[in-house]
Amino acid sequence: MFIPFVDLKKQYQTIRAEVLAGIGEALDGMQLFLGQNVQAFEAEFARYCGAEFAIGVGSGTEALHLSLRACEVGQGDEVITVSNTFFATVEAIALVGARPVFVDIDPETYNMAPSQIESKITSKTRAILPVHLYGHPADMGPILELARAYNLKVIEDACQAHGAEYQGCRTGSLGDVGCFSFYFTKNLGAYGEAGMIVTSDPDIARKSKMLRDHGQDAKYRHHLLGVNGRLDEIQAVVLRVKLPHLDEWNERRRSLAQAYEAGLPSSLVKPQEMPWAKHVYHLYVIRTPDRDQLRACLEAKGVATGMHYPIPIHLQEACRGYRGSDAFLPITEKVTGEILSLPMYPELTAEEVSYVCDCVREFTESRPETSKLEVRR
Ligand SMILES: Cc1ncc(COP(=O)(O)O)c(C=O)c1O
Repeated sequence: MFIPFVDLKKQYQTIRAEVLAGIGEALDGMQLFLGQNVQAFEAEFARYCGAEFAIGVGSGTEALHLSLRACEVGQGDEVITVSNTFFATVEAIALVGARPVFVDIDPETYNMAPSQIESKITSKTRAILPVHLYGHPADMGPILELARAYNLKVIEDACQAHGAEYQGCRTGSLGDVGCFSFYFTKNLGAYGEAGMIVTSDPDIARKSKMLRDHGQDAKYRHHLLGVNGRLDEIQAVVLRVKLPHLDEWNERRRSLAQAYEAGLPSSLVKPQEMPWAKHVYHLYVIRTPDRDQLRACLEAKGVATGMHYPIPIHLQEACRGYRGSDAFLPITEKVTGEILSLPMYPELTAEEVSYVCDCVREFTESRPETSKLEVRR
């Protein structure tokens, strides 16, 4: 059996006619610049997230970059974030001239550990940027409390968490601003590059709108130095077709996660869902000290896997300048050597999950007892 890491073709077949008709209509109308589909999708996505405004941009990276600008984070400022994330989270902070300050993660959710934040706050700190990694929300309550106490902005990186919830509220609507990616493998993915800024703050919304379009509020009236970072009409068509399916696709991911939970051996660390969270399993990430061997074994049996992410950002060559003397992040550094992402997408079948579980079990049963114990927290 061959099981790909994601299979976009299967999902496309279920929405193909609607996508092609929508694209055809958009092309017939030739309203390609912030047209009716972009505007409609912005309204629909804002409503979905429970926020007042949504501003379509070119990618998740652009959403993060422009949100930081809209929150007036810039040269010489510090932004508290995590190192266990995709590179773009930190890249966006550096792009505005600010310095990323890394805090360690919680070993159960792999997200920002709120207890680590306060000691990193200085007179230069302007914002906290938690990431809802793998589709599980960060523990936003204590993060928002600290932000209020120190007058900091909270920018959520919700690029992997479309539809995830913290205490019943959707991610992206919890902080001052939320950033989404619609990269094609995401729970809500375009067929090209796309992203969204979500906020209920009218000032952040107004600035973000200008920044994505060369800083203009009307043609050739430039108030800010912005970028060409607009959401494209064709991607908005695709996303409008997909959004009504998102909850059902997320539910399917959740039931596949339950099947993995039941079928995988207990000697592995499996994903947790905190009592205050709704996990949407963008990625299904397990942990074992034998990660590389397990990965090779699964590959030999036709099961594709991924690593999200094998090198923490503070140890990346490009971030050498941000390391500082206190750059040791023990939990981040430990888990990044042990994490393995198993296939996870709504079209995965129960038989395929069962095959993956059998392959993993065969592997763990062939390993000595010691390596099974090492992984226990
Ligand atoms: C956590 C996280 N942040 C930011 C991004 C950047 O999004 P994009 O690839 O759309 O620029 C991604 C997407 O890969 C992501 O997973």
